[in-house]
Amino acid sequence: MSIHKKEFKKVTTHVLLEMKRSGEKIAMLTAYDYTMAKIVDAAGVDVILVGDSASNVMAGHETTLPITLDQMIYHASSVVRAVDRALIIVDLPFGSYQGNSKEALNSAIRIMKESGAHAVKLEGGREVAESIQRILTAGIPVMGHLGLTPQSIYKFGTYTVRAKEEAEAQRLLEDARILEDAGCFAIVLEKIPAKLAKQVAEAVQIPVIGIGAGNGVDGQVLVFHDMVGLTKEFSPRFLRRYLNLYEVINGAVGQYITDVKSRDFPNDNEQY
Ligand code: KIV
Repeated sequence: MSIHKKEFKKVTTHVLLEMKRSGEKIAMLTAYDYTMAKIVDAAGVDVILVGDSASNVMAGHETTLPITLDQMIYHASSVVRAVDRALIIVDLPFGSYQGNSKEALNSAIRIMKESGAHAVKLEGGREVAESIQRILTAGIPVMGHLGLTPQSIYKFGTYTVRAKEEAEAQRLLEDARILEDAGCFAIVLEKIPAKLAKQVAEAVQIPVIGIGAGNGVDGQVLVFHDMVGLTKEFSPRFLRRYLNLYEVINGAVGQYITDVKSRDFPNDNEQY
């Protein structure tokens, strides 16, 4: 068991709020399948995000736009089967909530009912406030997501740092307050200046989780495949790689091929 797992207590949205109040940082990671989610949960991570980044790292799409609600539910239910402790949040995919608040509610209900996850996340500020309120009427906790919102990549045009200009920074701060008032239990801030992220975390009572948003927020999230080095091409400044699994797996597979071809595998002890 990880040293980080203080006690076997399930993480809830209330636990996250207590963590913010007591100053304990929240550790969040993505997971998309049973085996990896089991490892991540056993290590003691507080929150698992079944992110629509599955579209990139699991399915090989260039953006998060193509992943469907059915595919998100498939990933989420695999994760739910693995997890004992972490809070599991699932991204509402592109096209499943932007139409209107009824569509957003129906999509959130499908995720909760068909996967067994604990909460949903959606991207955007004031434009999704009504949908957040409607989802909450069904008792479904909602996490917001501001800053770089990958589902709007074709509007932004690039994946560069957001809200560097004063007007966009002010709007983001207002949006964070709107999301809090709408009832979000937490907000993700992606790729914005650290100073602004700290300001947002101080302005709202709910936990603010950063990715490329500095150290002044209440917790951090990374994409699992990036932090263990399964991906090679993606190397933004904010990413800390804890392993180089690409090279480790590549080496193991290379050795396996050599052993098969040289007839070294299987040996006498590896057969019946
Ligand atoms: O989909 C995802 O992995 C995310 C994180 C980058 C926060 O939304």
